[in-house]
Amino acid sequence: SSTLGAAAADSGRYFGTAVAAGKLGNSTYSTILDREFNMITPENEMKWDTTEPSRGNFNFGPADQIVSHAGAHGQRMRGHTLVWHSQLPGWVSSIGDAGTLRSVMNNHITTEMNHFKGRIYAWDVVNEAFADGGSGQHRSSVFQNVLGNGFIEEAFRTARSADSSAKLCYNDYNIENWTDAKTQGVYNMVRDFKARGVPIDCVGLQSHFGSGGPPASFQTTLSNFAALGVDVQITELDIAQASATAYGNTVRACMSVARCTGITVWGIRDSDSWRTGENPLLFDNNGNKKPAYDASLSALGGG
Ligand code: G3I
Repeated sequence: SSTLGAAAADSGRYFGTAVAAGKLGNSTYSTILDREFNMITPENEMKWDTTEPSRGNFNFGPADQIVSHAGAHGQRMRGHTLVWHSQLPGWVSSIGDAGTLRSVMNNHITTEMNHFKGRIYAWDVVNEAFADGGSGQHRSSVFQNVLGNGFIEEAFRTARSADSSAKLCYNDYNIENWTDAKTQGVYNMVRDFKARGVPIDCVGLQSHFGSGGPPASFQTTLSNFAALGVDVQITELDIAQASATAYGNTVRACMSVARCTGITVWGIRDSDSWRTGENPLLFDNNGNKKPAYDASLSALGGG
C-alpha cells in the first residue's frame, strides 16, 4: 500500500495523527490528513478546559467538528482526554472537598463519553497521572491530592459504565524505557487492575522522543505491557529532527508486537508541532514527505 493508513491496515493496525479543528479548512493540511491517516486524536478540543469551562456547562463544538470530519472521511477517533491535571479549568483545580470532586469528575467523564458515544474507538480515560523521576508513584494533582490513589480506578469504572463499547486506555509519556521507575509504576498499576478486574483495555505510550528515537528496550516495554492482556498503542509520536532511522525503529517495534494496534503521530507538518524548531514530524512545513515518512511507510510494509 502507498499510504500510511492503508499500509497499517494491511496488518490490522491504524496510523493516526493529532488534528486541530482550526486547521481543517487548510487544504494542504486536510489533503494530507485524508490521504494518509485513518485515526484522529483531537490535539486540544476534547480537553476539560474546552469541554467544561465552567461547572455543568459543556462545549463540544470544536470536538464535534473533528468527529464529523472523521465520520465523513472514514477515519476513527481516539478521545483525548477525560481526566488530566493539565488544561484543567481553575474551577476544578480549586475544589477541596472529596465528595464534590468525585461527583464533578464522574459527571465530566459520563457526560463527555455519552456525547460522543458510538464515535470513539478508544478513550484516554486518565492521562499522565504518574510522576517523573524515580518514585514510581502518582504525581501531585487535585485528583490525587483530594481523592487519593483510588481516583484512577474510579475514573476507569465510571468510564466503563458510561460506554461499554469504547476501549479504555491509560496514556502517559516517558514510559517507553522498560527499567524506568515511571514505566514500572504504570506497569504495576495495569497488572493490579487486570488482577482485580478494574476495566482497562489499553496503554498509550506517548513516545515524544529525542533525536536518538526510542530506547533500546522499547519493543520489550510494548510486549511486557501487552502480556498483561491489554492493547498497546503509540499515541503521540514525534522525534526531534525526525531521522528516518529513529522513525523506522519506532514503527518496527510496534510491528513486532501483535497487540501494538496502532501508531499516532502528534501532528502532520513540522509547522503543526508543539515542539517548535525541532522538525519532529513526517511532513515538512510545505506538506512534503520527509525521509522519515518513507522509512515509516516501508516499516509498515508499504511502499
Ligand atoms: O486556544 C488558545 C488561544 O485562544 C490563545 O490565543 C493562545 C495563546 O497562547 O493559546 C491557545 O491555546 C493553546 C492551545 O495549545 C491551542 O493552541 C495553549 O496556550 C497551549 O498551551 C496548548 O498547547 C497544547 C498542550 O498540549 C497543552 O498542554 C498543545 O497544542 C498540544 O499539542 C499538547 O499536547 C499534549 C498532549 O495533550 C498530552 N501529552 C503531551 C502533549 C504535548 O505537550
